[in-house]
Amino acid sequence: MIPNQLRNETLQLRPFVQEDEVDVLAYWQSDPGWERFNASVPTNFTSSDASAFVTEMRARNRDVQPNWAIEYQGDVVGIVSLTLEQDSRTAIIGYGVHAGVRGRGMAAAATALVISEAFTSYPQLAKISAHTNGENLASMKVLEKLGFSREGLLRRAHFVKGRWVDDAIYGLLREEWDQ
Ligand SMILES: CC(C)(COP(=O)(O)OP(=O)(O)OC[C@H]1O[C@@H](n2cnc3c(N)ncnc32)[C@H](O)[C@@H]1OP(=O)(O)O)[C@@H](O)C(=O)NCCC(=O)NCCS
Repeated sequence: MIPNQLRNETLQLRPFVQEDEVDVLAYWQSDPGWERFNASVPTNFTSSDASAFVTEMRARNRDVQPNWAIEYQGDVVGIVSLTLEQDSRTAIIGYGVHAGVRGRGMAAAATALVISEAFTSYPQLAKISAHTNGENLASMKVLEKLGFSREGLLRRAHFVKGRWVDDAIYGLLREEWDQ
C-alpha cells in the first residue's frame, strides 16, 4: 500500500483528521470560482459541507482510494487523491490547493510526491490519468509540467450549474515518469 505520510522540504502529505474541516472550509471558500467547474462543489460551501467532505475522505478505503491532506506551515492547504483501478494497474489522480498559495508550484510538487510513490508502491501500475475541466488552464499547466500528455477532450461531458463543461483527459505512462 502507498504510504500515508509523504513529505518534501516544505510540504507534508498526511491523512485527514476531523479537525481539518476548519482548514477545508477556508480552502473551499478561498475560490468562489471553482464551483463553476465541478458539479460536486456546492455553490455556497458551509461548515457542514466541510465536515462531510473530511468524513468522506477519512472513510475511503486506502487500498483503492488513498487521499492526503497537503499541510503547509501547519495548515491544510489542499488535497491529493488517487483512485486505483484494474487491480492498481491504472489510477486517476486529483488535486487542489487553497487560492492563497497558488502559483508557487505547490500543486505540482504535492502531486509529484504522490505520483512517485504510486509508481514505487504499485509495481503493476502502468498509467496515471487525470480529468480536468477543459477551461481549467492552471490545472492543465500542472499536468503538462509533470509530463502528462493530453489524450483528448470529452465535449459537453458534464452539465454543471446550468452550463455544459468539457473534460480534458491527460495521461502519464510509467516509462514517461521514469525518464
Ligand atoms: C489547479 C491548481 C491545483 C493549481 O495549483 P498551483 O499550486 O497554483 O499549481 P502550480 O503552482 O504547481 O502550477 C500552476 C501553473 O499554472 C499556471 N497558471 C495559473 N493560472 C493560469 C491561467 N489562468 N492560465 C495559464 N496558466 C496558469 C501558473 O503560472 C503555473 O505555471 P508555472 O509554474 O509555469 O508558472 C489550483 O488552481 C486549484 O486548486 N484549482 C482548484 C482545484 C482544481 O481545479 N483542481 C484540479 C482538478 S483536476
